[in-house]
Amino acid sequence: MSEWRGEGRSIGAVPTMGALHEGHLSLMDIASRECDRVVATIFVNPLQFAPHEDFDAYPRNLDGDAGLLAARGCDALFAPEKAGLFPPDFSTNISVAGVGENHCAVARPHFFDGVATIVAKLLLILRPDAAVFGEKDFQQLAVIRRLVRDLDIDARILGGPVVREGDGLAMSSRNQYLSAEERAVAPALFRTLKQAGELISAPGAQWPEIRVWARKALVDSGFSSVDYVDLVEAATLEMLDRAGPEARILAAARLGATRLIDNIAVAAARAG
Ligand code: PAJ
Repeated sequence: MSEWRGEGRSIGAVPTMGALHEGHLSLMDIASRECDRVVATIFVNPLQFAPHEDFDAYPRNLDGDAGLLAARGCDALFAPEKAGLFPPDFSTNISVAGVGENHCAVARPHFFDGVATIVAKLLLILRPDAAVFGEKDFQQLAVIRRLVRDLDIDARILGGPVVREGDGLAMSSRNQYLSAEERAVAPALFRTLKQAGELISAPGAQWPEIRVWARKALVDSGFSSVDYVDLVEAATLEMLDRAGPEARILAAARLGATRLIDNIAVAAARAG
């Protein structure tokens, strides 16, 4: 990579945890468009998994992933071992207040610290000109934007749109965990978000009632439970009661043991 830098080539990074699908690969396309060379990273980051979560079970397929990346024009793959990244007495934690609270942080209180810490490390190791992250993990993207701004890390952060299956389900490495029955229920998450988005765009619409409706709609569709359905301002992730110009609906819901997240942009409320 230092050779590329010496030649004046710009470098784009796409950090991932592997088990790659079209959602990840779409970020490669953005990086290739924006930069001369693209480096992908694959590292299942232990810092962002709680002890009861799926770190051991998380799908791993390094050879298959490497093939997909090469076919998509990836110039380099960084897939470090844990021991290579973390000295035994590693003791630093990066915590992003505000955007890193609420929403997903309620059910996963240490998750965004783990993400912020590993992303800071990866950006400092690779020193890319740009790094691309998916809007699928909308709160994660907001945390990373804030982290990079606050710590003056010299990389442009680019967001890529959510890539979906034909029935609307947002692609995710964790979709592999779903049984056939759960997989049939899963598209209700996106469907409900779209309906909630239409409802909140109506003149005078208030979020508290629509939130109640959306939670019930998800359970009625077959979701086991709903972690949250929040209307937020896109940059700060502050909760809103009405649609604003940059409003977004974020949601997380559970299907058996699998937790799915999704989000959509909301059109500004129509004038009454
Ligand atoms: P991972 O879940 O592997 O996702 C890697 C990147 O792919 C993230 O930026 C994520 O938002 C994006 N992505 C996943 N599914 C997507 C989809 N359906 N459409 C668009 N983009 C999608 O997110 C992580 O890994 C980790 O937290 C990481 C940032 C690598 C830090 O460990």
